[in-house]
Parts: sequence; structure tokens; C-alpha cells
Amino acid sequence: MRIQKERANAKINLYLDVTEKRADGFHELKSVMQAISLFDVVTVKYLPSKETRIKLTVKGRYRLAADNKNLAYRAAALYLERASLAADIEIILEKNIPIAAGLAGGSTDAAAVLRAMNKIFGRLFAERALLKLAAELGSDVPFCLTGRTALCEGRGERLTKLSSIPPLYIVVAVSDEHVSTPAAYKLLDDRFSSFDGSVETGSADRLRSMLSDIKRTRLASKSLFNVFEEVILPTCSKAAEIKARLVALGAEIALMSGSGPSVFGLFTDFASAERAARNLCAGGIEAYYAQSVNR
Ligand code: C5P
Repeated sequence: MRIQKERANAKINLYLDVTEKRADGFHELKSVMQAISLFDVVTVKYLPSKETRIKLTVKGRYRLAADNKNLAYRAAALYLERASLAADIEIILEKNIPIAAGLAGGSTDAAAVLRAMNKIFGRLFAERALLKLAAELGSDVPFCLTGRTALCEGRGERLTKLSSIPPLYIVVAVSDEHVSTPAAYKLLDDRFSSFDGSVETGSADRLRSMLSDIKRTRLASKSLFNVFEEVILPTCSKAAEIKARLVALGAEIALMSGSGPSVFGLFTDFASAERAARNLCAGGIEAYYAQSVNR
């Protein structure tokens, strides 16, 4: 048996704007994503076999259906199909990343499965080919494969690696409000007239200043932006409250990640971030301290 263990990091969006609704129903994005130190552990076990069998087990803090709809399962199935291989695969997910929160929990597990499978099978796919498989699985999966800091365009799958930013001291907090990603995009369509140009969203200026900040390895709060805040926070009062509390606890800025409802705060140092995370947890809010990951 061959066993491959991978760390599957969560992401936050430092910048997220939607610029267009496409004919295929997806939306054109401009997003700066950052990998963070909150992670799931993904173990892939391989046994040679004439027939493909994939077994998925989910452990840890969060429960989810361990069936063939899970993105990690689908990643293993897709890898074997494209490699024309049969194998006995067991996937074990140890979940620490909150589910359906805008932190790419499912996407990062799928990316970790692709990485593990490629190691097990002697790197059958080069980086570009693996990124293509990732894009078939979901818009955030290619970023999760590469991690670090990147500008994500297109549906989210077109990556430009960016230089490393200085360490970020992050508190990620999650409310129990449920946000479905397609429903969040529908709210955006309603708010911004399906992006026909009649209603402005973020601003190109902000993205320019974010990218130049990153180049100069500093990050100004005013460059951070998430277009989803405008449509999600009014309907998710707990997420809006968490955002206000993060600022009250000393965050330089607090912003929703992805389509929410998770909110992250950026702090100037480890001690104040840790204190804020503890304070939120004591108040019954699910909160985690994390750092940016740039390796
Ligand atoms: O690609 P992924 O499976 O993560 O997308 C989930 C849903 O989010 C899509 O079915 C679509 O409704 C919406 N989406 C979108 N535009 C994107 C990414 C996602 O409309 N760029």
C-alpha cells in the first residue's frame, strides 16, 4: 500500500470583484486569493487493483456526506479516468475548515487529492495538465493547487502568481448562516443588473492599488474589497455583527471571504489577533487564528 498525506490550506479573498455575467452562467472575476494556515489533512491510500474502488471517510470537526458527490471523491475519480488507470483508493478527510463558508474547504480537499494522486502515480500530469483537471472540478480548485498569493481571473481558474505579501495575522470567524454560492451570484445579478455596465461594482483603481501594494510588499486596508458584502451582509445579520466585532477588537480591516458567510480580520500582530480570536470564541462565535501561507 502507498500512503500520501497532504495539508489542504483554506483561502481568503483579499479582493473579489465580479465584472461580467457570461453566457455559460458563470461570472468573470477579478480576485486576489491568499492561502492561510487553517487546513484540513487529506490522506490518500492506494492499492493496486483491476477495478476502480474509491472509499471516502470524513473525520474531524465538520460532518459532510462521504459520497461520490464530494469534490475530493470526484477529484480521485477524474484523475484515474484521465490517466486511464484502475486503482483501489481510500481518501480520509480530517476537516478543520468550516464548510460552505467562502474559505474553499471543499476545493482545497479536491486539490490535495490531485496532488497526492500525482505523487502516488509518479507525476503522470505536469503542472499545467493538473491545473486543467483542477479547473474541471471547480473555479477555486486551481488556486488551491498552487496556494500562496495569486490573482485569479476568468471563472477563477486563470491564475497569475503574485509576490509574497508580508505575514498577515488573521482571525477567521464564521456564523451559522447558510449561504449558497449560486444564490449569492443570483443576488449579485439582481443588484448589478447582470453586470450590463449600468451599475458599478468595485473599482479598477482599488485592484490596481492592491496589486501595487503586493509588489511593494505592504497591504493597505483600503485596497481590500469584496463585492459580495453588499448583497450578503444585509441578509446575514450575524456575519455583519462579526465584522463589526472584529473591528471593535482591533482589526485594521474586516472583510467577508468569498460569498460568505465567513469574515476575516487582519491584525497588526500575533498577540492582538490571538486575543481577538479567544474573545470571539468566549462569546460563542466560531473563530480561528491563522497566518498567511507563502510556501
Ligand atoms: O465552480 P464552482 O463549482 O465552485 O461554482 C459553483 C457555482 O457558483 C456555479 O454553479 C455558479 O453558479 C457560481 N459561480 C459563478 N461564477 C464563477 C464561479 C462560480 O457564477 N466565476
